[in-house]
Amino acid sequence: MLYKPVIIEHIHEEVPGFKTFTFEEGHDIQYKGGQYITFVQQTTHEEIRRSYSIVSVPLLNEPLTVGVKRIENGAFSRQLIDHAMVGDRLLTTGAGGVFTLPDDTSNIHQVFFLAAGSGITPIYSLLKTVLHFHTHLNAVLIYSNTSPTTTIFLQQLEHLRQTFGNRFQLRFLFSNSTDLLTARLNRDFLTELTRIHSVCDFNHALFYTCGPEAYMRMCIYTLQEQGVPKENIRKETFVVHSKKATTAAPPDKEPHKVSIQYGTDLYELNVQYPDTILQAAKKQNILLPYSCETGRCGNCVAHCVEGKVWLSYNEVLTDKDLQNGLTLTCVGYPVGGDVLLKI
Ligand SMILES: Cc1cc2nc3c(=O)[nH]c(=O)nc-3n(C[C@H](O)[C@H](O)[C@H](O)COP(=O)(O)OP(=O)(O)OC[C@H]3O[C@@H](n4cnc5c(N)ncnc54)[C@H](O)[C@@H]3O)c2cc1C
Ligand code: FES
Repeated sequence: MLYKPVIIEHIHEEVPGFKTFTFEEGHDIQYKGGQYITFVQQTTHEEIRRSYSIVSVPLLNEPLTVGVKRIENGAFSRQLIDHAMVGDRLLTTGAGGVFTLPDDTSNIHQVFFLAAGSGITPIYSLLKTVLHFHTHLNAVLIYSNTSPTTTIFLQQLEHLRQTFGNRFQLRFLFSNSTDLLTARLNRDFLTELTRIHSVCDFNHALFYTCGPEAYMRMCIYTLQEQGVPKENIRKETFVVHSKKATTAAPPDKEPHKVSIQYGTDLYELNVQYPDTILQAAKKQNILLPYSCETGRCGNCVAHCVEGKVWLSYNEVLTDKDLQNGLTLTCVGYPVGGDVLLKI
């Protein structure tokens, strides 16, 4: 796989410590609302990969743009925020991720977005996609920040509210507010907000959440407690840990042949536990898409066309995705025979 370069055309500081980076036309990156780009940087010791959610919407002819928050002591985000300049060329592995709308939304009436801080980035592009292109859907955004001055895309969201007011309900929550009952999202307040803003039963509503881990955990528990089907909730995790989340081993540790159709290329490799499919591919210098390598980001998603892949960990694919044959190469082992994957 060849890396896909992008050239910075424009940099804008949206709020202190958060910038958007817009790239020149002519890149070879196709994407959907809610996906991210993975950047690749070669250091003297290793290759580092970092993903940033795309805030633009291709169908609106917006130029490819990502949003980046400066992380204290962060290797890559500080490089981008403090030093990147217009004209700089960055390497990427293209767009990825499954934090997207389903192909068929005809059975859905409403989409709730629950965002905190820089978690707005993938949600902003999903929200615009819903409002502009899924006109039968009602949208609700509940967006938590410290104050209006730290709220990314505050004016743009207000503008969307003015434009789509009949279909779009927007609730800003500010944790520095003196009204403590509405300052922070908690279980009771989220229950009340979903009740106030719901226009249909939860079987016909989708929920997308992105923010700090504890925030998303609270949202997901609360929604499930209220009866939202697990299938209807999606989360995007920004903080990926370098450590494996589990040491679980596959039920079959025998070697199996894995064929991978990646675009127009076909690769064949023998995968033997303890290597995952991705690890076996890396050993043969086959460059597949990946980012976190721990089953948390969805960058390595593949379609299992033949055979069976057992996952040691999975934080991104829903039961429905798995039933539809999606799998993850970074935590995936072939079991019970040979496997054919398509990426
Ligand atoms: C699917 C996906 C989408 C993402 N989208 C975005 C996005 O749209 N905008 C964005 O700014 N970031 C996004 N991230 C996070 C981003 O990829 C980097 O992890 C982040 O910028 C830190 O990288 P770094 O090299 O600067 O810091 P590192 O050198 O990797 O880490 C430095 C320290 O900061 C901690 N840390 C890493 N990320 C965060 C965080 N987000 N908040 C608090 N602490 C953190 C790490 O645990 C570590 O201790 C996304 C990540 C994933 C997996
Ligand atoms: S690389 Fe992140 S889930 Fe596989």
